[in-house]
Amino acid sequence: MWSTNTNNIVGAVIVALWLLAGSNFIGNLLIPPFEPVHDAVASTSAAKAPEKNVTKQAAKETAAKAEPAQSLSVLLASADAGKGKKIAKKCVACHTFDKGGKNKVGPNLFAIMGKDRASVAKFNYSGAIKKMGGKWGFDDMDKFLTKPKVFMPGTKMVFTGLKKAGDRAAVILYLRSFADAPMALPK
Ligand code: HEC
Repeated sequence: MWSTNTNNIVGAVIVALWLLAGSNFIGNLLIPPFEPVHDAVASTSAAKAPEKNVTKQAAKETAAKAEPAQSLSVLLASADAGKGKKIAKKCVACHTFDKGGKNKVGPNLFAIMGKDRASVAKFNYSGAIKKMGGKWGFDDMDKFLTKPKVFMPGTKMVFTGLKKAGDRAAVILYLRSFADAPMALPK
């Protein structure tokens, strides 16, 4: 059934394919094939990605390390009692700070730093604070004010706590200022 016509068409197609293949080959010689370039981009971005993760990880680690470096003594040294006064507005519903101030829901806090725990006259303390005993120092005051109920389970002080270490340091500095002879700051 093959006519010369069909043969011609088939021949033309073969020639065309051969030309295409040939021009592709020559073209590849003249212009470097595109794909490797694409591959190169893909592989560099793939190489960069873990690098990014590494930097993120390193940043996290340094942030985690930087946190404990801000010790309470450092925070106290740079704390501002004026800021502490503002934060202490959260305390005045229950506490007075002045010498001879009255007991409210909580005891008067004059000269509380360095004072025996639960030693304010005429205040009805919880069993929890009486049992704990000891004197108020900087570290324990910091822990108490972070979360009173965690530091002193069973305390009557209904206060959620101060989350920020800087806020606690400022309040402690402010508390410390209410005293005839303020307790020396920790070194
Ligand atoms: C809702 C009332 C309330 C608030 C607000 C409150 N306290 Fe108290 N606080 C109390 C009570 C009640 C006690 C007695 C705890 C006990 O008997 O367990 C207490 C006890 C204390 C003590 C121990 C006193 C002692 O004689 O040993 C300190 C220190 C203290 N509070 C500091 C603070 C500071 C600082 C703030 C503000 C950041 C604050 N409190 C906010 C009610 C409060």
